[in-house]
Amino acid sequence: MADAMDPPAFEGVVYQIYPRSFLDTSGDGIGDLAGISAKLDHLVWLGVDALWLSPIYRSPMADFGYDVADHTDVDPVFGTLADADALIAAAHERDLQVWLDYVPNHTSDQHPWFQASRSSRDDPKRDWYVWRDPAPDGGPPNNWRAAFAEAPAWTYDEATDQYYLHQFLPEQPDVNWANPQLREAMLDVLRFWKDRGIDGFRADVVHLIGKDPAYPDDPPEVAGVGRAGHHHLPEATAPHLRAIRETLELPPAAVMVGEINLPDAAQVATYVGEDLLHLAFQFSLIYSPWRAGYWRDIVGYVQREFDAVGAWPTWVLGNHDNSRVASRVGRAGAARAAMVGLVTLRGVPFLYAGDELGLEDAVIPPDRVVDPGGRDGERAPIPWDGSERHGWAGEPWLPWPPVPEIRNAAAQRADEGSMLHLTRRVLALRRAESSLRTGEQEVIDVADDVLAFRRTDDSGTHLVLINFLDEPTDAEVTGDWRIVLASDGAGEGGSYTGRLSPDQAVVLVTANG
Ligand code: NOJ
Repeated sequence: MADAMDPPAFEGVVYQIYPRSFLDTSGDGIGDLAGISAKLDHLVWLGVDALWLSPIYRSPMADFGYDVADHTDVDPVFGTLADADALIAAAHERDLQVWLDYVPNHTSDQHPWFQASRSSRDDPKRDWYVWRDPAPDGGPPNNWRAAFAEAPAWTYDEATDQYYLHQFLPEQPDVNWANPQLREAMLDVLRFWKDRGIDGFRADVVHLIGKDPAYPDDPPEVAGVGRAGHHHLPEATAPHLRAIRETLELPPAAVMVGEINLPDAAQVATYVGEDLLHLAFQFSLIYSPWRAGYWRDIVGYVQREFDAVGAWPTWVLGNHDNSRVASRVGRAGAARAAMVGLVTLRGVPFLYAGDELGLEDAVIPPDRVVDPGGRDGERAPIPWDGSERHGWAGEPWLPWPPVPEIRNAAAQRADEGSMLHLTRRVLALRRAESSLRTGEQEVIDVADDVLAFRRTDDSGTHLVLINFLDEPTDAEVTGDWRIVLASDGAGEGGSYTGRLSPDQAVVLVTANG
């Protein structure tokens, strides 16, 4: 087990790109790899360290790429392998890492592995997926339910008179990591992309890959609920994570963040460690109301539970599966304060592309809904400028988020008071100050509606205060402090007076520091 004081495997900031929605250069209205390459200088200007791309593999897109049909090729809507190589090279020239999404729990039903597996009970790849006989009444083998659909997690396949397991869509059959050949084939995917220069991976629902071989019914309290958020089997998953970790460590080495989509950060932390995952998402802040008390409890709890296993935490305020942070907190000022919190908390921050512009979810008219999981709003295209199509070559696949004529990258680059500049400034501060990257963290009590925490190392201390109210709040702290950054710009460079303006987050240093 790693010591809590060990340097983290990765201490930078990760920027999540949903490639379909980033920038279209080909004119088909779908973002592509060339669009990402075109914006690398902007991302360097912004100051992130790594780009995580949601899936770019060949896919029928039933779940927009989380249904992989070929792990070693790029889907034509995004470009070609040569475009991926060019993007990786151009990113590396700029000291940016490139991380890919790795989808280990399932493939597309169009994947040649599944096509072979379903072809006959005797096929050598039959056991690469999870096939079971019907229950005595002819129904599914157990009571598991699939995510997204009000339906069983099993689909009957007439040709071979068995059911196959899919914890997501029927188009996403679960693979069977207990089969050594499947496991090796999945590890080969990592080898393939590491050899192409990929620096890290985000592993999709990786806590689901270790299955209970008995496939027991879910207990009544969770029966009927999509399974991704419960009923995992850590002891069955750990050996696979060890094999993954060994593969990642072999040169060229890469890091991995696991999507451990479990509600309790203590459970999540058990998947991280020296021979397990480097990092794991914990989504507590996404699920938390914008209230100081909740944030305080979460920050303290996460810190305790991750320290207990010597693991480095992560912080996430948005992604392609959840309503955007600006929509959740409701006030632009609060979204700005939240960004300051995200970047200054101890752990690896993950920024969802567009949150640096304060984008809100798009309103999707019923006839434009395309996602089976109801997540189109947060996947709306990024507006790059104020022109008619906001820099996109074609009409985008989803409607724009609200007020793209104001909330676009060009307008905000021209406005030093914008959310974009704030994000850039707080990222620069984090980069410049080791205490904000790797320093210890202590949550302190200052006022009910304020989250306050200290970040300290040999170089000094920073104090972060976040006012969760849309009114001024007293937040006295002992000692003399100077404001180095304020989410609303107010008072920067001056002494801290003990009072925060509405929705204000500040980063303070000792006045003589
Ligand atoms: C989690 C991903 O983030 C989500 O977008 C996807 O639908 C499921 N896993 C299934 O792969």
